[in-house]
Amino acid sequence: MKTLFITGGAGFIGSEAVHQALERGWRVVNIDKLTYSGNLASLEDIADNPHYSLLQADIADPSAMQAAFATHKPDSVLHLAAETHVDRSIDSPAPFIKSNIVGTFVLLEACRNFLKSIKAEEEKVKNFRFVHISTDEVFGDLATSSGRFSEKTPYAPSSPYSASKASSDHLVRAWHRTYGLPTMITNCSNNYGPRQFPEKLIPLTLIHALSGETLPVYGQGQQIRDWLYVGDHVRALFLVLERGRIGETYTIGGFGEKRNIDVVRTLCELLNTLSPQKPQGVSDYKDLIRFVTDRPGHDVRYAIDPTKICEELGWKPLENFDSGLRKTVEWYLNHEQWWRSILDGTYHGERLGTSV
Ligand SMILES: NC(=O)c1ccc[n+]([C@@H]2O[C@H](COP(=O)([O-])OP(=O)(O)OC[C@H]3O[C@@H](n4cnc5c(N)ncnc54)[C@H](O)[C@@H]3O)[C@@H](O)[C@H]2O)c1
Repeated sequence: MKTLFITGGAGFIGSEAVHQALERGWRVVNIDKLTYSGNLASLEDIADNPHYSLLQADIADPSAMQAAFATHKPDSVLHLAAETHVDRSIDSPAPFIKSNIVGTFVLLEACRNFLKSIKAEEEKVKNFRFVHISTDEVFGDLATSSGRFSEKTPYAPSSPYSASKASSDHLVRAWHRTYGLPTMITNCSNNYGPRQFPEKLIPLTLIHALSGETLPVYGQGQQIRDWLYVGDHVRALFLVLERGRIGETYTIGGFGEKRNIDVVRTLCELLNTLSPQKPQGVSDYKDLIRFVTDRPGHDVRYAIDPTKICEELGWKPLENFDSGLRKTVEWYLNHEQWWRSILDGTYHGERLGTSV
C-alpha cells in the first residue's frame, strides 16, 4: 500500500481528498494544524480506518515536517494546507505569509531532503509526486472581458491571500526547475459542496437563511465566479497526481460561471423547496437578501478554461451547478449538528457568529 501525505486534510477540500484517497487504496497521513477551519467532524466516519492517521502539526515547522517524512516515508504529497479566506487576509495578512509561503517552502525543503535520503530506492524516487493545490485568484481579475484563465495566463494577484498563493506557486515551480523536485501545480476555481466552513458564500448564505438572519451580498452581487463541485475538483487532483506530467500546471474549472447574486437567489429558491418550514416571519428566503459595502480590491470575474486537463487527462465534471448545489443544500440540511457546533463554538475552533 502506498502512503499519501495530505496537508490540510481536515479542511473543506482536504477532507474530500482524504475520503477519495482511502477509496482509491492509498494509506493516508493527514498533516493538519487544525486552525479554525480544520474540523475533525468532517473525518468522523473514517477516523478509525486503519489506513488513516492524523498528524497534528504546522507545515511551517521544519523539524515537525522533517520528522514526518522520516517516519512515514510517503510516496506522494497532496499539498492543500493554507489560510484561505480573502476577508481574513485583508484584516490580518501575517498568518497567510506564514502558512502559505513559509509553510510551502518548509514542505518543499522537507521533501527535497527526504528524496535525497532515499535516493538508493530508485523506483520510489521515480514515482514520487508533489501536487501543489492553488487557486485561480493568482491570475487576478478578468473584469468583464470574455476571456478565461488558462495555464498561460500571467500572474496578477489582488489580495494578500492570492498574493501568498501566487508566491507559493512560484516556489513550487522554482523547486522543480532548480532541484528537479517532481512537482505539479493545479489552479482551481471556486469550490462548493459538503463540509465547507460557513464563512464562504454558499454555506454562509445557507446557514444565515436557515437561522432567519439577513443574507449579506457584497456590492450589488455582480461578481462572477466559476463554480466547481468539490468532488469533481478532487477527482481532478487524483488524475493529476496519478497521470499528470511532472513540472506542468493544470487549470481546473467547472463550466459554471455565475454572478454572486444569482447564486444566492438560486440557493434561496432551493431552500424554499427543500426547507419549506421557514423561520418565523420569513415567507421567501430571498426577502433576507441585503447588499453590503463591497470588499476592497474585489475581483469582478474569474473563469477557467480547463481544456488541458480535459484533453490530456480525460477529466470532466460530473455535476453541473444545479445538481451540485442541490447535493450541497441536502448535505447541510442533513448535517445540522456539523454546522451548529461551529456556530456555538463546541467544535474545536473559534466561535463564528451568524450576523455579519
Ligand atoms: N475553497 C476553494 O474554493 C478553493 C479554490 C481553489 C483553491 N483552493 C485551495 O485549496 C486548498 C484547500 O482549501 P479549503 O477551501 O479546503 O481550505 P480550508 O480553509 O477549508 O482548509 C484549510 C486546512 O488547512 C489547515 N491548515 C491551515 N494552515 C495550516 C498550517 N500552517 N499547517 C497545517 N495545516 C494548516 C487548516 O487547519 C484546514 O484544515 C487551499 O490551498 C486553497 O488555497 C481552494
